[in-house]
Amino acid sequence: MAQRADFKNITVFYGGRTSRDIMYRAELEKLRGSVDVHLSIDKAEEGWTGYCGFVPAAVMDKDPVPDNAVAITCGPPIMIKFVIQNLNKLGFKDEQIYTTIENKMKCGLGKCGRCNVGKDYVCVKGPVYSWAELKYLPEEY
Ligand code: FES
Repeated sequence: MAQRADFKNITVFYGGRTSRDIMYRAELEKLRGSVDVHLSIDKAEEGWTGYCGFVPAAVMDKDPVPDNAVAITCGPPIMIKFVIQNLNKLGFKDEQIYTTIENKMKCGLGKCGRCNVGKDYVCVKGPVYSWAELKYLPEEY
């Protein structure tokens, strides 16, 4: 937020199973006005006025424009998979999409080999990758 003026539109999609699962809800609500915040829960609850459904569907409904944009996604692997599929459907190129590999790590220094995917040590090269990079790693993550 300290560099907010350096960026044009920022959209945040954040989902939880229930409204009680949404962390930093007060902080996210405070961002409204300078950031387009979309909170969602999986199933309707009494009193919830936000989106009901999964994050990948919320992304499709909002239909973000890929021109001069970057998408960053993290969370459960199954959610990441479908968010990326939907971003591709919306016209985002693989180079515009970033995500994380959350492999178990031990040394964090590229020495033990605990975190490797193919020849990459995730603790050294990642854990953040573009989707374009990840597509060429073996599907071990
Ligand atoms: S955690 Fe040891 S090599 Fe990555």
